[in-house]
Amino acid sequence: MSTLRDLAEEHTQLRPADIDHLHRIAGDWQLLSDLSFADLLLWVPVDGDGTFLCVAQVRPTTAPTAYQDDQVGRIIGGPEVAHLEVAYRQGRIWREGDPVWYGDVPARHEAIPVRLRTTDGEHGEVIAVVGRDTNLSTARTPSQLELNYLTTADDLAQMVADGTFPPARHPGETTSAPRVGDGLVRLDASGKVTYASPNAQSAYRRLGYAAHLVGEDLAALHRRLAADPLEGTDAANGVLAALRGEAPPRREIEARGATMLTRSLPLMPAGVPIGALVLVRDVTEVRRRDRALMTKDATIREIHHRVKNNLQTVAALLRLQARRVGIPEARTALEESVRRVASIALVHETLSMSSDEVVEFDGIVDRVASAATEVAATESTVRMRRQGSFGVLPAEIATSLVMVLNELLLNAVEHGFPAGGDAPAEDRPGTGGSAPEVVLSAHRFRKMLHVSVADNGSGLPPDFDAERGGNLGLQIVRALVTGELRGTIELRACASGGTEAMLVVPLVRP
Ligand SMILES: Nc1ncnc2c1ncn2[C@@H]1O[C@H](COP(=O)(O)OP(=O)(O)OP(=O)(O)O)[C@@H](O)[C@H]1O
Ligand SMILES: [Mg+2]
Repeated sequence: MSTLRDLAEEHTQLRPADIDHLHRIAGDWQLLSDLSFADLLLWVPVDGDGTFLCVAQVRPTTAPTAYQDDQVGRIIGGPEVAHLEVAYRQGRIWREGDPVWYGDVPARHEAIPVRLRTTDGEHGEVIAVVGRDTNLSTARTPSQLELNYLTTADDLAQMVADGTFPPARHPGETTSAPRVGDGLVRLDASGKVTYASPNAQSAYRRLGYAAHLVGEDLAALHRRLAADPLEGTDAANGVLAALRGEAPPRREIEARGATMLTRSLPLMPAGVPIGALVLVRDVTEVRRRDRALMTKDATIREIHHRVKNNLQTVAALLRLQARRVGIPEARTALEESVRRVASIALVHETLSMSSDEVVEFDGIVDRVASAATEVAATESTVRMRRQGSFGVLPAEIATSLVMVLNELLLNAVEHGFPAGGDAPAEDRPGTGGSAPEVVLSAHRFRKMLHVSVADNGSGLPPDFDAERGGNLGLQIVRALVTGELRGTIELRACASGGTEAMLVVPLVRP
């Protein structure tokens, strides 16, 4: 479907500034549509042939539509455009006498010229026409609400024709603007409430104001109600600015645990300030949810922090025991456990520092890798190198993956280059005399993370069962890879001698 801009550029001579103004209209006209109980169609004259093109449409949320079908892109001419012509040529609002029939739906047509004021604010040209079409088949008996809505709608329509509505937009105000149905208050020129819709009355009640709003000085009321005096002054100033003919940004008022969003609009048909319109919306639940999310975030961070502390305590206890134990094998086993616990603690440390549930994994893995070379019981130093990047990983993958890589890196260092190994790398055939090295590489491909840990060491023992063989280390690896990570792992001999572990982990969960 074509956008307003596409349509206008293709069929009309409208300038960019004109089109921007039409965008502003279409961004703010739900208000006018709802207050009018009518569909609004934005018509622009097509070059020179007397026809009009519909470039945008909005339906009322307060009444049935006059158009079941989308009108955008429709071009009309002849008698159908007579009322649009009047508004466009003469620059005045035109209202048709007799209802028009769409199939079996009677509708009333009105045409509102859209004027774009020049920068001096005095003059302006009519650049388009807003058709206001009311479905008359379910016409309401005019209640006080309806009469107030319609009066206000007529004021706003006049302001569209004057070029004073919609007001300039404040930065960042795109969504969640209060709508007519959320609550509407109308003020006279002195700032006294002349009408408040039932929803508006309820919203103020939640802030602690139970009396009837009509007759109240709304700016003073805002100042009184707000729990925070600064906020109260802000909200009061918003109302006063609208009464002066300005369009202030939205304000929030908080009182008694409830939060209300307000939007004040000047009412100044034909340039005369006659009062203001204040739209209010009870956003208590929205703000409560925001706050809950924020504290949930902080809680998760705190949990990671505590897990890290607990793990460090566990590691310290094991280290203490390792020192006391006399049997060398037992001591080695305890020291291994210290390393395993420490590497999990590392992940939780990183998670506790970030605000979200993902981690920059390269930093973690580099620390684990350099820790692995330190423990190497070899005379020659083993070089550790990383190729490619892990990128950002979800926390649940990161914790398991760091355990797996810890084991694989330790194996590469420990078993690839054993202390007093009978064949130093330089002398072995097939290694090309290269220095002891472990290469950790990672890349992403089609939502899979491919990781390899390759050493140029002594290779797997000849009788090694690549599928099932191994002690606790490889058991941990297989359990985590096939379980938590839902991936695959393969151990094989490197072409250059040494051993390579290949790991594939899906990055998206089914
Ligand atoms: N990169 C490697 N190079 C040579 N041999 C390896 C390599 N990786 C694993 N192995 C062989 O596989 C065996 C099993 O490894 P595994 O990690 O399961 O146990 P481990 O390292 O002996 O003890 P631990 O439970 O403390 O890790 C090792 O003893 C070793 O013989
Ligand atoms: Mg091991």
